[in-house]
This record gives sequence, structure tokens and C-alpha cells, in this order.
Amino acid sequence: MKVSQAVPASGECRLGVAVDLTGHEAAARRPAGNAEAALSALADYLADDMLACNNEIIARMQSDVPLIPQLAAHLVAAGGKRLRPLLVFASARLAGYVPGPEAMRHVRVAACVEFIHTATLLHDDVVDNSQLRRGRESANAVFGNKASVLVGDFLFARSFQILTADGSLPVMAILSSTSATLAEGEVLQMTTQNDLGTTVEQYQEVIYGKTAALFAAACECGAVIAEASEEIRAALRAYGAALGMAFQIVDDALDYAADQAELGKTVGDDFREGKVTLPVILAYAAGTPEEQIFWKRTIEDNETQTEEDMAQALSLIARTDAIAATLRKAEDFSREACEALKVLPHGELRSLLEDVAICAVYRHR
Ligand code: IPE
Ligand code: IPE
Ligand code: MG
Ligand code: MG
Repeated sequence: MKVSQAVPASGECRLGVAVDLTGHEAAARRPAGNAEAALSALADYLADDMLACNNEIIARMQSDVPLIPQLAAHLVAAGGKRLRPLLVFASARLAGYVPGPEAMRHVRVAACVEFIHTATLLHDDVVDNSQLRRGRESANAVFGNKASVLVGDFLFARSFQILTADGSLPVMAILSSTSATLAEGEVLQMTTQNDLGTTVEQYQEVIYGKTAALFAAACECGAVIAEASEEIRAALRAYGAALGMAFQIVDDALDYAADQAELGKTVGDDFREGKVTLPVILAYAAGTPEEQIFWKRTIEDNETQTEEDMAQALSLIARTDAIAATLRKAEDFSREACEALKVLPHGELRSLLEDVAICAVYRHR
């Protein structure tokens, strides 16, 4: 049977649009599954590493100041996909790293990356005034903004203590510069907020900084731990960066189109905050003059927004097919991620990473 007969040319997506997978070489080898299944397959493959990582996270979030472990536990106990530690482990092993009783570096580095991610979530929910995270009340909603910012600072600081204990200068260089890039991404986002003049290029710069840079760093750190060649290191970094771009683009689509209970975050936060994300950029560009007046009022002058405006935003996004176009952009990055893996050895782990990239476009949370 020809591959084209075995495989659907489009993937069904919860967002109500079919994404065209034609020409997606890696996707053509297996039908599009769902993102949650792809991630849990990777987590199953790396179960021992993930268990060690969770233990490390819990051990390292302790402090004599009771509010710190209390607030951190609120977020950590709620779960999270642990995608970034998975990327560290998968990259390290794919690049030839063999863990042993003496070789626990991968666990430390993965925990460190998850601490950086958790710190940014605490700060991000304050900045975005978000009330729901990982299916429960956000830390800022429960403990207040001040506590969230300060415990976020603690987690950042703790991540650097873990790095110093690890002692690898290249890993330290990657994660310290990535932390600066993350902060730049969030600041840049703030300066594009409420500005419908934001271009797709500027949007991409923001999401690279706030999200994709840490995905790239997680993968690159895996390669460094494995003492991989420059070529492998660059390939894994490129995979992480492209996956991170796809992941954030889909996050921005989900903010308009997800099932809130499944997402575990409040749908519509981006609109209420006047964030200029890809669905809005595309709906605005394709809008009639009258529709553009609506976007200008609600996004640029967003103090004037009412509850009913969200329904109108959703209907304009649907009319202009902006979610489908957003997901096509995510799909381009998903392809790029799979391309980057081509220099890595064939095998189950590489296939699992390809699946994660392909299915990231169809994720629901
Ligand atoms: C949330 O990241 C922040 C974004 C980059 C969109 P995740 O979706 O990986 O969050 P958790 O860790 O699974 O909660
Ligand atoms: C990602 O952007 C922020 C971080 C990288 C911390 P969002 O603001 O869209 O993330 P969510 O939707 O709050 O998770
Ligand atoms: Mg946010
Ligand atoms: Mg979001």
C-alpha cells in the first residue's frame, strides 16, 4: 500500500478545523494521534528519569521559610506536563548519554529547567492577572501577587544553585542566557500589548523569547550532558526552538478555542488583557473596516471591553478562519522540528520526539 493511502491527509483538531498534513514526511509515517497520547508515550519511555526528576523537584523546593514550599507545592502538586524535563532526558539519551548510579546530571539539569519554567509561570500569572493554572486556582489567586513574585524569585535563585552544584560551565551559560531571553520575551510582549500594529515577525520574536528559547535550551542541555558533537547539539537545539514556537502558537489558539476545563487555564485571558497574539493579528488583517474598529476598541482601548465582546471576538475569529491559519503556522514549525531531527539516529526515541512535534498542533492542554 502506498504511504499516501495509509495516512489521512489531515488531522482532526479539537479546535474545529482540520490541519493539512500533506507533505509532512514524519507525519506520513504514522497517523496523527492526539498530543496527550504522544506526551504520555514519551513519559512512559522515560519513566525512571521522570520519577527521579519529580523527587529532585520536591527535595529542592524546600526552605525554612514555610510559605515557600507551601506556595511551590500548590503549583507543583497540580502537575503540569513536565514537557521541558522530558526534552532534556530525550535529547540526552538520543545524543548517547547513558545514565548510571554515578551519572545523575540529567536529573539535576532537568529539575533546574523545570524550576526556571515554574518561576516564569508564577510571574506570568501575576502579570497576566490569571486566576486559573493547571486546573486549580493560580498561586496569585490563593496567596496574592506579592507572594507569587517573591517565590518565583526564589525558584529562579534555586535553579542557579542547582546549576552551580552541577558545575558545567556550558550548561550554566545556556540556562543563564536563556533566563535573560525569557525575561526579555515577557517585557517585549508587554510593549506590544494593546498595539494592533504588531507584525507577525514581532509576535514571533516575543514567543521565541518567552517560550521557545527554554525549549531550545532544554534540548541543547541534553546534548551537552551527552557530550555530543556540535552538529547534534545544533540539531537538538533547532528541534526544541521549532517545537517551542509551535507550542506557543497553539497555546495562543487555545486561549480562544479551548475547552477551559480541559485546558486548566481561563479561556479568553489574552483577549481581556489586550494581547496581540497570532489569532488577533490574522483576524484583524482579514477584517472589514467595521470589524477593525471593533478590534481597535477592544484590544487597543481595552479598558472599554465588556463581557459580550468576547463572543463577538470569537465570531470574527471564526469568520476570518484565523484559528485555522494560526494552526497552519504552528504546523510549519512542527515540520521544521521534525526536519531538525534528521541527523539523529533512527529509533524509538527519535520517533517519540517526532510524534510530540506533530501532535503539539492538536493538543488540548
Ligand atoms: C505554559 O507551559 C506556558 C506556555 C509556554 C504556554 P506548559 O503548557 O508547558 O505548562 P505546564 O507546565 O504543563 O503547566
Ligand atoms: C507563556 O505565555 C508565558 C511563559 C512562558 C511563562 P502565556 O501567558 O500565553 O502562557 P499561559 O497561557 O499563561 O500559560
Ligand atoms: Mg499567561
Ligand atoms: Mg497563553
